[in-house]
Amino acid sequence: MDIFEKITSNIGPLGQFADQGYGYFYFPKLEGQISNKMTFKGKECIVWSLNNYLGLANHPAVREADTKGAQDWGMGYPMGARMMSGQTEYHLELEQQLAAFEGKESAYLLNYGYMGMVSIIDSLLDRHDVVVYDSEAHACILDGLRLHMGKRFVYPHNDMVSFEKQMERAKKLTDETGGGILVITEGVYGMSGDLGNLKGILALKDKYNFRLLIDDAHGFGTMGSSGKGTSEHQQVMDKVDIYFGTFAKAMAGIGAFVASDRQIIKTLAFKMRSQIYAKSLPMPMVVGALKRLELIRTQPELRDKLWTIVKALQSGLKENGFDIGNTASPVTPVYMKGGVGEATQMLYDMRENYGVFCSIVIYPVVPKGVIMLRLIPTAIHTLEDVRVTIDTFKIMKQKLLAGEYSIGGVPFVADEFV
Ligand SMILES: Cc1ncc(COP(=O)(O)O)c(C=O)c1O
Repeated sequence: MDIFEKITSNIGPLGQFADQGYGYFYFPKLEGQISNKMTFKGKECIVWSLNNYLGLANHPAVREADTKGAQDWGMGYPMGARMMSGQTEYHLELEQQLAAFEGKESAYLLNYGYMGMVSIIDSLLDRHDVVVYDSEAHACILDGLRLHMGKRFVYPHNDMVSFEKQMERAKKLTDETGGGILVITEGVYGMSGDLGNLKGILALKDKYNFRLLIDDAHGFGTMGSSGKGTSEHQQVMDKVDIYFGTFAKAMAGIGAFVASDRQIIKTLAFKMRSQIYAKSLPMPMVVGALKRLELIRTQPELRDKLWTIVKALQSGLKENGFDIGNTASPVTPVYMKGGVGEATQMLYDMRENYGVFCSIVIYPVVPKGVIMLRLIPTAIHTLEDVRVTIDTFKIMKQKLLAGEYSIGGVPFVADEFV
């Protein structure tokens, strides 16, 4: 069979509704400037779908640093991979500051978190080693594991009883192979908003002798009393062996970093193929990240503002009978019952008639019959945004329960993929 014919006849679970939802539910086209509000299809709406936890994307000092970085260096500089011709004093300075912030000996920049994580996992392991990981691990962790030639044992999300069972299996196996055990968890799970049980995992460290890698993409900058992440929040910073954070969420930038002992970081710098064979992080990103880190460190009021909105949104939803699962972070899921058709009609109504824009997650990412709306609060939302959104959700829920979304379709024409 021709592979083109084969793949285009089934573009996978995410692509199955591509022709009905392109440009609206999938790949919505952003227009103009964005803050707590944005324009979508010509109408203003409150937006809850942006990775901009602390509002830094719009912060004047950040805008100025980004602009100056581009003015001074251009977007191209440095013109090479880090190892060959991509290292500058700014890259090194940012790494030192990140390491100090995370209480680690060293840190190393990654040009994208996703690719960085794939290579961290790849670099740490050989076929004798065993990985134990959570079933809700992010795609970048799963892709890293695809490169792993040894065994991997998965435990159901945050299920500590199963975790220990998998650790027993891992220990038995590594006792035979002479390999080691790597445990991978996220700090904040980006869909459900609940936290990896770092404390529970670390409590078994002496018994099973493993190393812990945490992906704290959503926790860096948002969690902990000084924004150092979920490990600070759970008071286990010194026990996490490898800390990974991205600039793509709280920093509203691009790039990421990994922090650990100096010898580990040195090893990673010489082994991570996605970094060795790819261009170094451009200078405006590095200069911009230095400014963002400074603001995270020196302006706790940004985090306070974020959490004021988070608390108002989450408690308001709960008080009004919405199921927001076990979130303990800014990520706010709202679970409802319904099919894909109802979900799309509800979202359409919400955007067109009530001016509220959030993301929707449907089967197969969540079980059949579950609709998950996902909201990302930020420091630049207002309490009025929260009020309007909760009022809208109440109306949506009533309409959903009354069956108003189960008849007919959505009156819009999807964009064509060009
Ligand atoms: C948990 C998690 N890990 C890693 C990444 C990838 O980071 P980046 O956007 O820097 O590639 C993301 C998403 O951005 C994420 O949510």
